[in-house]
Amino acid sequence: MHFRVTPSKASSAVVAVPGDKSVSHRALMLGSVAEGQSNVTGFLPGEDCLATMAAMRQLGVTIEQQSQSEISIQGVGLHGLQAPEEHLDLGNSGTAMRLMAGLLAGQAFDSVLTGDESLSGRPMGRIIYPLTMMGAAIESDCDGTPPLQISGGLRLNGIRYEMPVASAQVKSSILLAGLYAEGATEIIEPAAARDHTERMLKSMGVYVYVSGRRIGINRVHRLNACDIKVPADLSSAAFLILAALLSEDSDILIRNVGINPTRIGVIDILQEMGADIRFERPQLFGSEPVTDIRVRSSQLQGGTVDPGLVSLAIDEFPVLFVAAAAAKGKTTFSGLEELRVKESDRIAAMAAGLQSLGIDVEEKADGAIVHGGRFKGGTAESFGDHRVAMSLAIAGTVADGEVMVRNVAAVDTSFPGFGACMASIGTNIEVVEEIPDD
Ligand code: S3P
Repeated sequence: MHFRVTPSKASSAVVAVPGDKSVSHRALMLGSVAEGQSNVTGFLPGEDCLATMAAMRQLGVTIEQQSQSEISIQGVGLHGLQAPEEHLDLGNSGTAMRLMAGLLAGQAFDSVLTGDESLSGRPMGRIIYPLTMMGAAIESDCDGTPPLQISGGLRLNGIRYEMPVASAQVKSSILLAGLYAEGATEIIEPAAARDHTERMLKSMGVYVYVSGRRIGINRVHRLNACDIKVPADLSSAAFLILAALLSEDSDILIRNVGINPTRIGVIDILQEMGADIRFERPQLFGSEPVTDIRVRSSQLQGGTVDPGLVSLAIDEFPVLFVAAAAAKGKTTFSGLEELRVKESDRIAAMAAGLQSLGIDVEEKADGAIVHGGRFKGGTAESFGDHRVAMSLAIAGTVADGEVMVRNVAAVDTSFPGFGACMASIGTNIEVVEEIPDD
C-alpha cells in the first residue's frame, strides 16, 4: 500500500482524531490487572493497541469491544493473569513489548514476547537490565533484541534506578514490575518522559511518589478498576495541525486533544516557529488534560530547536522535520539520538524522504539541519514507519506536483482512517495498491 498525494488545501473544519495510543495501551494493561470492570471510551483501535488487547486476552482477560472505540475490561486482579498457550505477538509495538515485559516479569508463569521485523530489531537491553536488577529473568537474542523469554515465579525486589535515557517505556516497564516487587522502587529520569502510567496508576488508587525527576512506587495489593476516557492523540493531531499551518486561509478545530504537559513539546516548538495554534475549552478527562486545538495558516520560521524539548516531543520529529522544510531559513535539530531506534531510524528516514522531495537536509549523528524550501513532486520511501509515512504525506499536500509515499500499511498501527480524516479537512491523500511505472 502506498499514498498518492495530490496538492490540496486544508480549509475550515471541525475534526476529531482517534484516541491516544499510549493511554489506550495502559488502559488495557492496568485495567486487566485491576479489580472490577474498567470501561474505556475513546480507545484507539489501531493495530498496536489491538496487539496489546489480543495479548491480554491470551492471558485470560475478558475484554469486550462494544464499538471500535468503546471497550470494557473485566480486571482479574494483580495475580489473576493466566499462562498463555502461545507466544504473545506484539506486532510493531515497542510500547506493548516493553510495558508487557515489566508486567509479566512479576507473574507466576513463563511467557514469550515476539514482534514484527521492525520490533525484532529494537533494543530491549534498556528494560532487561533494570528488570534483571529487580530479580527478573529475561532472555533475548544475543544483541538484546526480541523475542523475549520471561521466566515467571521469581521474587522481584524494588530498586533505585537512574535511567540512562529519558524513556516512558522504560520507566513504565519498571513501574509495572514495581507493583509486584518487595519494598520500594525508585526511578530517576534524566528528563521528563510522558507520565500516563503514573497518572493512571493514581486514578486506580496506587500511591505514586513524584518529586522532580524522581518517581517512586511500593508493592501494592490491588488496583481499583475505573472508567477511562482516552483523549484524542496529540501525536496524530500533529499531522492535521501541520497541514492546516501550511495551507492558505485554513482554520481548523481539533476536538478534545490530550495536552498532558509531558507531551506538548510539538506545540511549543511550532509556536516558537511562528505557528498560530490556540487552546480552547480546556478540560480534564480523568487525570489527563485535554483541549480543543485551533490552528490557522501561518508562515513558519526556522531556528534552533531547544534540545530540552526533545523528550516532550519525541514522536513528533518526523512532522517537525516537514515543518522545518516548509519554513523560511534553516532549522537545526539536535539531541535526537533516540530517533535512530524508533520504528525506523527516523533521522535517516526523514532526511532521505525530504531529500527525495527536493529539500536540502544535512544529517548529523544526533539530528539534522533542514533548509527550508519548496517540495517538488516525486516518490519518497516511508521505511515501513507510520509516522514517517504520514509526515511525508503532509509534505505532499503542499508540493509542486504529485507525491507518492511508498509502503504505508503501518499507518494503521497508530492512525486508522488517516486518509479519511485528512480528507475531512480538505487534503487529498489516497491509498493505492500500485505505484505507476514502479
Ligand atoms: C511511548 C513512549 C515513547 C514513544 C512511543 C510511546 C509510550 O517511547 O516514542 O511512541 O507509550 O510510553 P520512549 O519512551 O521509549 O521514548
